[in-house]
Amino acid sequence: MLISVANSAPVRPEALLDVTDFAVGYGASTVVEHINLRVGRAELVAVIGPNGSGKSTLLKGLTGRAKVFAGHARLDGDDVTAMRGDRLARRGLGFVPQTKDVFATLSVEENLQMGGYLLDRKAVDERVESVYELFPALKPMATRTASRLSGGERKMLAIGRVLMLSPKLLLLDEPTAGLSPDLARHLLHEQVPNLVASGVSVLLVEQKALDALRIADYGYVLVAGHVQLEGTGEVLLARPDIREVFLGSAAQDAAPETPVRP
Ligand SMILES: Nc1ncnc2c1ncn2[C@@H]1O[C@H](COP(=O)(O)OP(=O)(O)O)[C@@H](O)[C@H]1O
Ligand SMILES: [Mg+2]
Repeated sequence: MLISVANSAPVRPEALLDVTDFAVGYGASTVVEHINLRVGRAELVAVIGPNGSGKSTLLKGLTGRAKVFAGHARLDGDDVTAMRGDRLARRGLGFVPQTKDVFATLSVEENLQMGGYLLDRKAVDERVESVYELFPALKPMATRTASRLSGGERKMLAIGRVLMLSPKLLLLDEPTAGLSPDLARHLLHEQVPNLVASGVSVLLVEQKALDALRIADYGYVLVAGHVQLEGTGEVLLARPDIREVFLGSAAQDAAPETPVRP
């Protein structure tokens, strides 16, 4: 059952991504269903939930990598249900998967150039420079092989590669997985908000649930394949049951505990 925890409906920007009654799974089995979710323009929306709740499956359903059983996904008003990679990329949707997110044997710059596969040569060079502006740490590593990057550098490259096509909407699947706490904090509290400030909408799937809610405009809590709660990051963070559901994540969370009143 969906519980909306907003006291009054929050004013949200116009929907860029509008997902209605979405059901996704594999083979004959549905993993997530009855998903209604929106991402507004320049909005940062978090999807949090325990391991195995279907977060990655939802993103795979949105990017043509898992079977869509029901529902629709609309991007900028166009039906993009079950559409695949390059067609979505042309429409401004970028996806950074949790793993296999860079070409390990290529250099940093070659990875970025590959990311610009739909652009002409001149546009590729321009975009590479703007990604270096966004992630200055990458530039001195231009010729380094991606397999020799640290976890944080690699994730920056993975995001940069997708930014080559100037997406309107970026889907990030657990970008902090495998990063040190410092790098994870930097990514969530600096780099992702900077992207949003530059006008990109972000749908962020995160295990670090409380951190994700702290930066999110709006959040959805996925439990066993269903959206159980939704609301602004602020409102969700104030819920005592959020901490209960995410005890595991709360325990890993580096931020100080805030007292919860019944
Ligand atoms: N390729 C697959 N084929 C069949 N079942 C899968 C596949 N990938 C994930 N699942 C199942 O879907 C459920 C949700 O997994 P997932 O979406 O990865 O969850 P989360 O990302 O929230 O941890 C799990 O029960 C998992 O075993
Ligand atoms: Mg996952």
